[in-house]
Amino acid sequence: MRTQVAIIGAGPAGLLLSHLLHLDGIESIVIETRSRADIEATIRAGVLEQGTMDILTESGVGERMRGQGALHHGFELAFGGKRHRIDLTGLTGKAITVYPQHEVIKDLVAARLAADGQILFEVSEVALHGVDTQTPSATFMHGGEARSIEADFVIGCDGYHGVSRPAMPAQEQRKNFQRIYPFGWFGILVESAPSSEELIYAQHDRGFALVSTRSPTVQRLYFQCDPTDHVDNWSDDQIWSELHARLENHDGWRLKEGRIFQKNIIGMRSFVSTPMQAGRLFLAGDSAHIVPPTGAKGMNLAVSDVKLLARGLEQFYRQGSEERLASYSDDALKRIWRAEYFSWTMTRLLHTFAEATPFEREMQRAELENIVTSRAMATALAENYVGAF
Ligand code: FAD
Ligand code: DHB
Repeated sequence: MRTQVAIIGAGPAGLLLSHLLHLDGIESIVIETRSRADIEATIRAGVLEQGTMDILTESGVGERMRGQGALHHGFELAFGGKRHRIDLTGLTGKAITVYPQHEVIKDLVAARLAADGQILFEVSEVALHGVDTQTPSATFMHGGEARSIEADFVIGCDGYHGVSRPAMPAQEQRKNFQRIYPFGWFGILVESAPSSEELIYAQHDRGFALVSTRSPTVQRLYFQCDPTDHVDNWSDDQIWSELHARLENHDGWRLKEGRIFQKNIIGMRSFVSTPMQAGRLFLAGDSAHIVPPTGAKGMNLAVSDVKLLARGLEQFYRQGSEERLASYSDDALKRIWRAEYFSWTMTRLLHTFAEATPFEREMQRAELENIVTSRAMATALAENYVGAF
């Protein structure tokens, strides 16, 4: 097969890139190791920044998001038994939408297939070749047959465990930056009406907890846990008593319980691999960088990378200029490092670190007090959260 842009991975980055390129009249083929049913059912992120909502809307795939997503104008910080509202819209003029990542995936897959776009699911043995030449290619198995795609560009949108980052040619300036956190998040989906209209990020000596929603009948809850723990070690009763303990408060608010129908544990890391391009291979999204989920930035960063790449590829095909493509990595990394900083700040602010000294714990509490009493500090937090940069 031959196409203009070969895209590895059908996550938010790969699918949105393929969709945006199509709108610019540029051909692409997406290859994905998992099945369509699998990618459309994997539970991941939920918070869309205004910029993400705007690009989905402007590119014609935002209709279900606008209908079914919930617009949030603020969130709460809970600590010391009290809840404090961060007025996102009042402080920044912007809002966020809670709309699950797998619904974004469904919307993008539907749009690509409706436009006769090619997505090859359940491929295996993916390998990239000639990425430092003008004719890069990908080889893989599909439906029991060996296949290959020759392209002008290969874009690695295959997540942290994909093959694209390891296929980057050795370069003197290649650098990986990483921090692994000594905790994970235990996530559950619960059949019940939301406990709160807005998200609650709670700091507690027993560990962080987060109250989020998925729909008027489903709640998404998380609590800090040992990253090596297993969901089967926790009975439903233990989960509820841990969540109640961390969310206890003096204002009469109480978490609603319901049937728990999904449980998972995710590890937490900060990671950036630079540069995000070499020759004709470009990385976008989790293949190049990971943030801990506390700042809700993962999917939003994947979207902002792809927006830059789509503009660069459009300039290449329309004007024959490589100017934007040449500065892709530098341009994308500006936003990525700020999101890394914010995600690290939120993680540090809200989690319990076993090795923290009593002094450090008081500093954490003082920082939270500063945020909820200083409009300037709250504004900085809100600007970062809505992605107003
Ligand atoms: P991905 O969504 O990872 O998509 C990559 C795709 O490439 C996958 O479909 C994968 O199957 C495919 N692939 C992998 N290898 C190959 C290969 N060799 N060939 C072809 N295809 C391949 N962020 C938050 O903000 N909040 C959260 O609560 C949150 N929860 C998360 C939970 C989990 C378990 C994970 C893994 C991530 C979570 N994130 C969260 C992060 C957020 O979901 C990601 O940042 C986002 O999915 C990045 O999109 P992406 O398209 O770059 O990568
Ligand atoms: C959700 C996930 C996050 O990482 C976050 O910061 C807020 C909400 C969620 O899954 O709903």
